[in-house]
Amino acid sequence: MTKLAAGVILAVALAGVSFTKASPPGAVYVDPLLYNVVGANYTKWRNSSAVGFNPTNTAPPFIQVFDPSFLKITGPSATIRSIASNPGFAFAHEAPIYVPDLNVIFFSSNGGGALGYSGWYNNSVVSMINMTEVDMALASTTGDVNIQVQTLNLSDTVQMVNGGTGPYKGDLLFVTSGRALLPPSIVRVNPNPPYNTTVVLDNFLGRQFNSLNDIKILPGTDIMFFTDPAYGWLNGFRPEPMLPSQVYRFDPSTGQVRIVADQFVHPNGIAFTPDGKTAFITDTGIFGGFLGTNQTLPATIYQFDVDPLTQSFANRRVFAYIDSGAPDGIQLDTKGNVYSGCGEGINVWNAGGTLIGKFYLNSTSAELMFTKSGLVILKETAMYLANIEAQGMTLSVL
Ligand SMILES: *[C@@H]1O[C@H](CO)[C@@H](O)[C@H](O)[C@H]1NC(C)=O
Ligand SMILES: *[C@@H]1O[C@H](CO)[C@@H](O)[C@H](O)[C@H]1NC(C)=O
Ligand SMILES: *[C@@H]1O[C@H](CO)[C@@H](O)[C@H](O)[C@H]1NC(C)=O
Ligand SMILES: *[C@@H]1O[C@H](CO)[C@@H](O)[C@H](O)[C@H]1NC(C)=O
Ligand SMILES: *[C@@H]1O[C@H](CO)[C@@H](O)[C@H](O)[C@H]1NC(C)=O
Ligand SMILES: *[C@@H]1O[C@H](CO)[C@@H](O)[C@H](O)[C@H]1NC(C)=O
Ligand SMILES: *[C@@H]1O[C@H](CO)[C@@H](O)[C@H](O)[C@H]1NC(C)=O
Ligand SMILES: *[C@@H]1O[C@H](CO)[C@@H](O)[C@H](O)[C@H]1NC(C)=O
Repeated sequence: MTKLAAGVILAVALAGVSFTKASPPGAVYVDPLLYNVVGANYTKWRNSSAVGFNPTNTAPPFIQVFDPSFLKITGPSATIRSIASNPGFAFAHEAPIYVPDLNVIFFSSNGGGALGYSGWYNNSVVSMINMTEVDMALASTTGDVNIQVQTLNLSDTVQMVNGGTGPYKGDLLFVTSGRALLPPSIVRVNPNPPYNTTVVLDNFLGRQFNSLNDIKILPGTDIMFFTDPAYGWLNGFRPEPMLPSQVYRFDPSTGQVRIVADQFVHPNGIAFTPDGKTAFITDTGIFGGFLGTNQTLPATIYQFDVDPLTQSFANRRVFAYIDSGAPDGIQLDTKGNVYSGCGEGINVWNAGGTLIGKFYLNSTSAELMFTKSGLVILKETAMYLANIEAQGMTLSVL
């Protein structure tokens, strides 16, 4: 038997001994110490970042624990259940916005990709799922449920929604990547019928953005920060980029737009700590659209100090590099733990940057959202709910 095989047995044994009583059903403890040395006879090298690290070969979905402190996040009885699915369409991609008063999540489909809406040439679809209906359905079974999501019929001025945050002064705040003659934009959407929309920004001093990807509000302010990678061009629906792939700040009261961070390959998700002093930007550099995947480029979350005077992002440092896929959407809980959608599900780090666990779905999950019912995971063709104890940080919009 190789060292690793012994390690696997030990890991399973540890799961039984050290935390079965307090751990959620099916949770697996992968003690990093048991995998530090695998030896020359190891046969499972992961030479592709498309394959996840699942040394116990556990059937997904499951909770994978790298540090016992993760159990404080999950609580003792968390489960991961599918709440909506459509195998033929990547309806649940990104831009999740939870509106607590309605107990509804709004989100967008993948604008393209393998299971996008008939290729990159079609608009993305914004939908909503009613979490009250989800709760009611889950209460009557121990298995998965399939709640019908409702399509929103937004104005034609809203196309290729890719990121979102809110509620922002009562509205949903989406960024669009642009489509045909419509430039990339920031748009406010009424979360109630008739779901009317108002575009609040669609250019930088007369220059088009490349393809806006994600947006957050700096806590305690009404100022918008958003990312602008080149994916619109890399995925064949925008012209060649004419600006660097950078991060912007927009003050809606003065109309001023400025750049707060640059030097990324493909800046993607964005998040702040609840105190607004620290910012995170995910870089999905490895994914290059028609240029293909390049594993030597970033799959990295960068962390910054938010400069108190300029609100520029200072003191860039690596917060985490992702072992599977790339970090896309990013959210924080009330304790400052960091969650990001990656190649095999959701990865979770504590504020100190230690990878403490994963919600392991064995499939790319671009985004997540905290709700009263737990953590909702957007896994392209399905949505999952993990009924964990951690709570999402509250948005404090001025
Ligand atoms: C690796 O396999 C070879 C051939 O079976 C064996 O001789 C060697 O002892 C193994 N090495 C380890 C570290 O298990
Ligand atoms: C990748 O790893 C697998 C085993 O995990 C091995 O069979 C394959 O030869 C490796 N490919 C390369 C290019 O190293
Ligand atoms: C994970 O998904 C891959 C395909 O993407 C599949 O080959 C593999 O068997 C899956 N692993 C598990 C444990 O289900
Ligand atoms: C998607 O776009 C293609 C190419 O423009 C078009 O032929 C097709 O009808 C569109 N499909 C839908 C569902 O809109
Ligand atoms: C969500 O579902 C509940 C239960 O059916 C219903 O009372 C409520 O009106 C729904 N909310 C929305 C926003 O549709
Ligand atoms: C959007 O339009 C479709 C088709 O007409 C309809 O079924 C659906 O209920 C509409 N969505 C909303 C939220 O009104
Ligand atoms: C929607 O329409 C109402 C009524 O005209 C208006 O007060 C509100 O500002 C609009 N919301 C958006 C996001 O356009
Ligand atoms: C991958 O990216 C590196 C760094 O930019 C570059 O040097 C290399 O040529 C790329 N490889 C491929 C196959 O594109």
